[in-house]
Amino acid sequence: MEHAATAAQGIQVARTNRHPWTAEDIPEQRGRSVVVTGANSGLGFLTSLELARRGAHVIMTARNMDKGRSAEARIRALQPTGSVELRALDLSDLDQVRAFGERLMADGCAVDVLVNNAGIMMPPHPGYAATHLQSSGPSGLLKLFMRFGNRFLAQPAEMGVLPQLFAATAPGVESGQFIGPDGKNEKTGHPRRVQPVDRARDADLARLLWQESERLTGVHFDLQPR
Ligand SMILES: NC(=O)c1ccc[n+]([C@@H]2O[C@H](COP(=O)([O-])OP(=O)(O)OC[C@H]3O[C@@H](n4cnc5c(N)ncnc54)[C@H](OP(=O)(O)O)[C@@H]3O)[C@@H](O)[C@H]2O)c1
Repeated sequence: MEHAATAAQGIQVARTNRHPWTAEDIPEQRGRSVVVTGANSGLGFLTSLELARRGAHVIMTARNMDKGRSAEARIRALQPTGSVELRALDLSDLDQVRAFGERLMADGCAVDVLVNNAGIMMPPHPGYAATHLQSSGPSGLLKLFMRFGNRFLAQPAEMGVLPQLFAATAPGVESGQFIGPDGKNEKTGHPRRVQPVDRARDADLARLLWQESERLTGVHFDLQPR
């Protein structure tokens, strides 16, 4: 991952010359279309809400349409002038992913931003935000521990969502950059550019992951390594 110095400086300036970056700093999004996966809950829900608040057309996706409809209704109630729609998408089913993309193209929908948010993981890096993530994955003692962590160690989801809102909208952010919180151990705080963990920078592992993704999806790009 190579980063242009100018963009890095731009991000630094955004933080140091002004107040720490918050959702209030999201630039006007009118005219942009954004797809948010896993939009019914946690960070995906808040991402959809904030981008709709700033004028984007937000295509919310959910694998469970009951949960999706409830989230869409909450956003419409909180942001009545926002432009949102809901589509079904379970990312574990590649046929659904393909059909979703084809449907977007058939509808003439140009996507400016994809917030590839849906997922489960353990342990969180970077950032630790209290969401459903900690209760939907772990069980038993670990679940109890995570409940404790959510209460006393995590930051609220409204803070945890800032890095992905920053990555999706802040001027100066470039492809390949990694944005996380600026606090101790990158667990909490306001967004800034951070260094991914070593394994995420392992070129051999990245190549294997790319090849496996191409094999599973049947989609190939003629990309030259940088
Ligand atoms: N919270 C943190 O501290 C933290 C830290 C670092 C990274 N993250 C990442 O941030 C993202 C959002 O997590 P969150 O904290 O907001 O957790 P969350 O509240 O549990 O939300 C996760 C969302 O992803 C959806 N999802 C999971 N698997 C899916 C699949 N196969 N297809 C479609 N949707 C799927 C869930 O749908 P259902 O409601 O149907 O389950 C839910 O909408 C995740 O990728 C997570 O790994 C979170």
